[in-house]
Amino acid sequence: MDQDQKKRLVAAAALEFVVDDTIVGVGTGSTANCFIDALAGRRERIRGAVASSEASAERLRAAGIPVFDLNETGELGVYVDGADEATRERHLVKGGGGALTREKIVAAASARFICVIDDSKIVTRLGHFPLPVEVIPLARRQVARALADLGGRPVWREGFVTDNGNVILDVHGLDIADPVGLEASLNQITGVVTNGLFARRPADLLLVGSDAGVQRI
Ligand code: A5P
Repeated sequence: MDQDQKKRLVAAAALEFVVDDTIVGVGTGSTANCFIDALAGRRERIRGAVASSEASAERLRAAGIPVFDLNETGELGVYVDGADEATRERHLVKGGGGALTREKIVAAASARFICVIDDSKIVTRLGHFPLPVEVIPLARRQVARALADLGGRPVWREGFVTDNGNVILDVHGLDIADPVGLEASLNQITGVVTNGLFARRPADLLLVGSDAGVQRI
């Protein structure tokens, strides 16, 4: 089975967690796109979705699924999103697509976070995938220096602007032994909006697509 087939497999498996007549939290990226495509098949049975990016909102609308602002909906039952790396403790690195801030907000607003990945994303230690950090543009160089002091090698994702009008620094070379602690410390750097570690609020369930089918962690 190739990677795309595995993504479609887990996206379809996540439908099991979607409750009729509710508003569903929907993430960003190629696996989340597979989930949107799967969700389109049952659009008559849900009230709509809250999207973690403009791109996902557009895809949801194109699929005929009403998109709500989180401020209108309150807490959501379930949030479904992909990840760039995941451990068996369900700690994640996210933000490869640059949508990390809204992803973290929608995840925090949801009772259950179901993370859908193919098995290439499972790691024993986070940090091989460069850690995305969303930064206020004015603070880019100052934050980059602070990240370098922590032992990382920040690379500006030049030309990319987030949905919130900010920039991304992709931090290479971080050895993430303590994801919960590092997530908190990075948030203390003035000028940082969010970092891509999802450890303080990890996924509640990983659905992992593999040749053997869908594994639950
Ligand atoms: C988007 O900002 C990311 O957090 C995505 O969730 C992550 O990059 C996974 O994307 P894929 O499903 O495309 O691998």
